[in-house]
Amino acid sequence: MGHRAAIVGAGHTRFGALDEGPRALLRTAVDQAFASVDRGAERARVGEAFLATLGFGGWQIGNSSTLLGEESGLVGVPTTRVENACASGGFAVRAGVRALEEGRSDLVLVAGLEKMTDLRAPRRRYWLGVSGDTEWERLAGLTFAGVYGLIASAYAHRHPGARDAMAEVAAKNHENGRHNPNAHFQKAVSREEVLRAPRVADPLGLLDCCPVSDGAAALLLARPDRAREFTDTPVFLEGLGAASDRLAVQERPDVTRFAATRRAGEAAFQEARMGRSQVSFLEVHDCFTIAELLALEDLGFAGPGEAVSMTLSGATRPGGRLPVNPDGGLKAKGHPIGATGVSQVYEVFLQLRAAAGARQVPGAETALAHNVGGAGATATVSLFRRG
Ligand code: COA
Repeated sequence: MGHRAAIVGAGHTRFGALDEGPRALLRTAVDQAFASVDRGAERARVGEAFLATLGFGGWQIGNSSTLLGEESGLVGVPTTRVENACASGGFAVRAGVRALEEGRSDLVLVAGLEKMTDLRAPRRRYWLGVSGDTEWERLAGLTFAGVYGLIASAYAHRHPGARDAMAEVAAKNHENGRHNPNAHFQKAVSREEVLRAPRVADPLGLLDCCPVSDGAAALLLARPDRAREFTDTPVFLEGLGAASDRLAVQERPDVTRFAATRRAGEAAFQEARMGRSQVSFLEVHDCFTIAELLALEDLGFAGPGEAVSMTLSGATRPGGRLPVNPDGGLKAKGHPIGATGVSQVYEVFLQLRAAAGARQVPGAETALAHNVGGAGATATVSLFRRG
């Protein structure tokens, strides 16, 4: 099909427990995105804008996309909020691409945002819970860590070595986060520390979980035929798949496979006409360490259970055969819900322009970004190539 869209600019705040409120976070990410466009981008050229946010804590549940217009100097253009839980960002990128394809805009702004740390723990649990199944999960007391704990137990029961592989995912992603100045955590942890950490939802411990973070990210997407007006080094989106599944995990035939990821991945690879072996690195949705193992299998980079040996072999470390989450992933970079899917594409943009500094994947030509909502209920997969 060829290029579907070009990324010509991108911005990112720090992720973590931040003093700034939602508006300031948005403004910082968007200003950075505009400033990053090599030949400049007039705000007046932006024809449409999308905001990915869960609206955590209820800071502005309804009509929140107008705040993106206000903080971007784009009041007047159509703005739309996209909400698909933790996959809001991936679906907002998809909405932006489709808006470009409609042909009415040359340039589209896609931003993602969440402000989470200003709530106390019980309210945080409530706001995370609203994206899960209510009847069978939430009201039974299952948190997301609880659901992923059940998935991890089922996976570990079938596949020996899985617990060590999960610890390796955390150790690797924390090591990667050390080289990302925007990451929530920039400190290394060993596999032993991961295994010894306090239990959150057996077998998952504190260091198997992504944190609760504040942050924002923004992208400027251009029509591919206009990309060179903005930069000599655009990054092209070549394939984009999206899918959904039943909300409650108990409704699924096998909890260790995410059908939404599988469908979205197949669609993206088919559209991009790219083989798995051509992908230089992955940004996958590791909200809990088990999720990175599932992603490798559901995306077709490993067979059932094979993500264990692949991970333990070091193949997914920087310098390995297929680096995964060079920015630290959700585990170490942080997971401000609506910002995550946009942040993954920010990393792709840096890496494919060879601008990722100490965490640069040498010679990266192509990349995959994978964003999941809830425990596999919604998913997007995108494939990118350097221009
Ligand atoms: N990884 C590493 N360290 C973490 C951490 C994490 N995920 N979460 C918290 N910490 C650290 C904090 O930095 C703090 O360290 P300090 O004492 O040195 O300052 C300490 O642990 C306690 O932090 P606190 O915020 O009190 O932890 P908590 O017990 O309230 O929360 C979790 C821990 C794991 C329950 C919470 O991070 C969580 O809910 N994560 C999952 C979020 C989620 O479900 N997102 C959606 C995914 S689908």
